[in-house]
Amino acid sequence: MSTASSLPIVRTIGDLRQLVAGWRKEGHVVAMVPTMGALHAGHATLITAAAEGGARVVTSVFVNPTQFAANEDFGTYPRDEAGDVARIAPAGGHAVFAPGVAEMYPEGFATAISVGGPAEGLESDYRPHFFRGVATVVAKLLLSCLPDRALFGEKDYQQLLVIRRMVTDLGIPTEIIGHPTIREADGLAMSSRNAYLSPAERAVAPKLHQVLAEAAEAIRGQVPPAEALIAGNRTLDAAGFKVDYLELRNARTLAPVADTGAEPLRLLVAARLGKTRLIDNLAV
Ligand code: PAF
Repeated sequence: MSTASSLPIVRTIGDLRQLVAGWRKEGHVVAMVPTMGALHAGHATLITAAAEGGARVVTSVFVNPTQFAANEDFGTYPRDEAGDVARIAPAGGHAVFAPGVAEMYPEGFATAISVGGPAEGLESDYRPHFFRGVATVVAKLLLSCLPDRALFGEKDYQQLLVIRRMVTDLGIPTEIIGHPTIREADGLAMSSRNAYLSPAERAVAPKLHQVLAEAAEAIRGQVPPAEALIAGNRTLDAAGFKVDYLELRNARTLAPVADTGAEPLRLLVAARLGKTRLIDNLAV
């Protein structure tokens, strides 16, 4: 274990378990915030929320190779461990778990967790490898730490539901808590990938949230969802986005919506702006 500005940085599962066992002996609740680093104010809010009530918080920083396809940005994903560590202590975190790839995927690693239900459709239609990689790494992170609770941002809403499903199905004794999306002043959801946007793209990017807000308002006002979604698609096309999906789903299951009056609803969108793929979602 090493320390930076008094924050322990653990690299192995064995050291993480020892650290957590010490906290447990002292009677602390333990919380985890899994991340891929490149921490921004949204992550800081998650860490602060995780620490509420005096919990000890482990933030994991691991760019997980199995959730990237060969043509995606694993190689260029922003990495700044020193910058991440500097953000974690002021946010209220108590330790960093920053394993290497060989610690998470030792030689011969041959296990994967495949989730159905909420993992079907939406992101999986465009990134078929993604939730298998996420579920496998999150299961391993949770089993390595066994926190009482783990926090995830609602910006990755489908991911949040997939993780909840996986934790319930496998009986992992951790409460999964979703935290509302943190947005820039102009509405753009905070994301490590926003750093890829050119200044011109950054100026257009808040349209994604605006379109969700307009569609949600229209649907609440009894405009037929199909009509609201067509209008949203047109607005995004005109602004220069290439839309992967803009859909209305059941907020609990992500099943397609049968009756807008009876179900909790969520709008979900994924669209590319230049080389950057952005996702966002909103409750209706
Ligand atoms: O949302 C993320 O940052 C990642 O998908 C996660 C949950 C840390 C798994 O690698």
